[in-house]
Amino acid sequence: MTLSNFNRRNVEIMETISRRLTYYTKLKCNHCGKPYSPEEIQSYATCGEGNCARPLIAQYELPVGSSPSEVIVDRSDMWRYQRVMPLYDHSKLVTLGEGNTPLLQCGNLGAELDMPSLMIKDESGNPTGSFKARGLSSAISKANELGVEECVIPTAGNAGGAMAAYCAKAGIKATVVMPRFTPRIFQMECQYYGAELILIDGFLNDCGALAGKIAKERNCFNVSTMKEPFRLEGKKTMGYEIAEQLNWQVPDVILYPTGGGTGLLGIWKAFHEMRQMSWIEGKLPRMIAVQAENCQPIVSLMNGTREIGEPYQGSESIANGLVVPAAFAESMIKDVIITSHGLAMAVSDDDMMEGVKLLAKNEGLFVAPEGGALVSALKALLDNGAINREEQVLLLNTGTGYKYADNMN
Ligand SMILES: Cc1ncc(COP(=O)(O)O)c(C=O)c1O
Repeated sequence: MTLSNFNRRNVEIMETISRRLTYYTKLKCNHCGKPYSPEEIQSYATCGEGNCARPLIAQYELPVGSSPSEVIVDRSDMWRYQRVMPLYDHSKLVTLGEGNTPLLQCGNLGAELDMPSLMIKDESGNPTGSFKARGLSSAISKANELGVEECVIPTAGNAGGAMAAYCAKAGIKATVVMPRFTPRIFQMECQYYGAELILIDGFLNDCGALAGKIAKERNCFNVSTMKEPFRLEGKKTMGYEIAEQLNWQVPDVILYPTGGGTGLLGIWKAFHEMRQMSWIEGKLPRMIAVQAENCQPIVSLMNGTREIGEPYQGSESIANGLVVPAAFAESMIKDVIITSHGLAMAVSDDDMMEGVKLLAKNEGLFVAPEGGALVSALKALLDNGAINREEQVLLLNTGTGYKYADNMN
């Protein structure tokens, strides 16, 4: 065998091995479709005429016609879906046991609302207490694989804690930029995990601007949501789990508390990938984006009072994760809402607390205000007929209430 044949053979073997671990092939600009290398550190797209400035989306060569059991590996965390996730080298995996959260029937609350099929996917048991663990396990694993030594993140609270935890596990330096009004526990956990914490008098978009500056100055990796491409892939596993837990069916409606929209987009991406592999068929759920009355840029986009990219002035809410005045991927969020025949609506802080109390009293779940918002939104949508009481409805609770004690009454 000549040397070049030997090398080619080695490349083939490596490709076969990595293919078994993942079907990930490349990143693609969400706007113009330009491919980006999967082997280099990438942030959002800088291609196209006048710079696309859009998210980069991970692409896979999916095994069309496969069965779930041929693809899903024997693990008990979200990495059981590793073949539809972007990591090539599993020695670089950074995991704290995220995912595989319960999908519970809400029989008591359902009876109170006269709904036979109300469910909740409860993400509060994740490491660091929220669904952010999924995205950050994925992003920091990939950063670890690509040799990143320092990361920075703008955060409303939960994402910063999760990044700090996964960076601690990976031995990567972490810097977290957070609004000063964020409850103290979110600040403390970052410091305990050894991250540098920067508090600013402003909102998430101000944190984003500072994180971007720090990334440039220190030449470190910016893990800002939807600018970094792999948080989406971690959050996508919520969609895979929902279908698997419902025996490869999907609900009629999903209510999702929407800030930057990564979870909503991830779940939608998972549904499309599963459809492509023929794991699920038929109608996809209507995706309902629930926002805070004090900060509702997606609602304003959907009702036509604001254009994409137009500045939005929000104010504080007890649901810190929903105070996102400028979501980088807002055009994608709008597309999902429209194509799924969903809608966006806002809920007041008082109504969120009402929802938190209803879930606690009826279902034994102490959820984040973001989760409480879903219950109030559901009640309003049942009342105005946007949701039929016979429909199968899933609430996606994104986090634990325990971290929000400062915000609750
Ligand atoms: C508990 C909670 N729910 C929802 C969100 C919004 O998440 P997404 O960016 O997926 O819209 C956040 C973001 O910080 C959060 O912490």
